[in-house]
Amino acid sequence: MVKKILLNAFDMNCVGHINHGLWTHPRDESAKFNELSYWTNLAKTLEGGLFDGVFLADITGVYDVYKNNLDVTLKESVQLPSHDPITLVSAMAAITTHLGFGVTVNLSYEHPYLLARRFASLDHLTQGRMGWNIVTGYLDSAERLFGRQQLAEHDQRYDKAEDFLTLCYKYWEHSWEQDAVLKDKQTRTFTDPKKVHEIHHQSPFFESHGVFQVSPSPQRTPLLFQAGASERGVAFATKHAECIFIGGGSIAEVKKNVQRIRDTAIQNGRNPQDIKIFVGITVVTAENDTQAVHKLKEYQQYASPEAGLAHYSSSVGKDLSVYKEHERIPYEKSNSITSVNEKFKQQDITPYSLKQQHLLGGRYPLFVGGGETIAAQLIHFLDETGIDGFNLTKTVTPESYEDFIRWVIPEWQKRDRYKTAYTVGTLRHKIFQQGPFLKPQHPAKSL
Ligand SMILES: Cc1cc2nc3c(=O)[nH]c(=O)nc-3n(C[C@H](O)[C@H](O)[C@H](O)COP(=O)(O)O)c2cc1C
Repeated sequence: MVKKILLNAFDMNCVGHINHGLWTHPRDESAKFNELSYWTNLAKTLEGGLFDGVFLADITGVYDVYKNNLDVTLKESVQLPSHDPITLVSAMAAITTHLGFGVTVNLSYEHPYLLARRFASLDHLTQGRMGWNIVTGYLDSAERLFGRQQLAEHDQRYDKAEDFLTLCYKYWEHSWEQDAVLKDKQTRTFTDPKKVHEIHHQSPFFESHGVFQVSPSPQRTPLLFQAGASERGVAFATKHAECIFIGGGSIAEVKKNVQRIRDTAIQNGRNPQDIKIFVGITVVTAENDTQAVHKLKEYQQYASPEAGLAHYSSSVGKDLSVYKEHERIPYEKSNSITSVNEKFKQQDITPYSLKQQHLLGGRYPLFVGGGETIAAQLIHFLDETGIDGFNLTKTVTPESYEDFIRWVIPEWQKRDRYKTAYTVGTLRHKIFQQGPFLKPQHPAKSL
């Protein structure tokens, strides 16, 4: 049976997420991101297009590495201002039935108890549509906001994340038995006391003893997303995540990365098919190829490759403004996103080549063409690499999502590569078709 393509909208509670500068386009509405109707309209649009989820990125902190200040970040609104993504969920859930919510929360600035409680509460309210994108952060600016000097060492952040998740699993999976809640008015028993248990946890990072406050939600544990790409990151992601994001690249590079993820999953005792792999992409599409190219040229006039560089500088923890236009940027170890920084080791990268890559102000792989062309290219990419789906970035908003729904999705449907209706059930069930809960092999189950 051919694989149906999974699809998330990749967005953020801010103006410019990946493709910077496009907020200045006359038809772009992202400056209204602080209005609830902007998000409820988007949620309706995405559900109309049968998107599996809206995936909300987040950073704690600001991009202040480029030129060692915030000027470009503020002027171009490069993820600043940006608001808490979880505040959007209830509103979007209220006017949709199926759309999933993958929400990024950086665990470095959270306590497991409060985070577990928030996600479990929302999993109840959304009837099992919650996902958590587990991140550990990459910004010294965030550390300063929390009164510290700089990020903890890269691998140490993952050690803390391991412990954080173990404790969350205890709350979500092991405190309440599935049938603890009776709601029995006759016997005056809301919850059977015999079926609720204290959890105990003591580690160098966290200590917790007691009963979790939230009864089992439809999925218990939210669907777990992760994007670790370094050696330590992949080890972590393949142990815990059910959905993994990877950066784009050539078909050969992505295929190798997919193989590495599936092989490491096996070493971690997981079934490699229990992990769905997504690649982030940018698409400019229209009625036909000529019109799509025309649209790209039009969009390009508003994009800001320099804002893209300000974003990139913070991703790698390196001020990219100090290099001459055609100077090779040297590799230096940093504490930020290892896998992105490693590219300076592997490739000849100059500010000029980076700006060329940032045609629309972002560095994600760009596909341009009419619906048939894009549908065919993305199917080819997915089949050749072995990935499972895409995270679609926004360009001109909401136009780019509307265009994708209008031109690309029907072409996928014609080829039987995209659903024509949602499956009923939780987000996890929609993605895996195997019920609402974590698989028995998942490490959360055997604590
Ligand atoms: C598609 C994608 C989305 C990501 N979204 C976020 C995000 O919203 N917030 C964040 O702090 N990090 C985000 N990251 C960064 C990852 O959390 C992680 O730091 C990165 O993939 C590097 O992992 P590594 O340090 O193991 O190389 C994202 C990465 C990818 C590939």
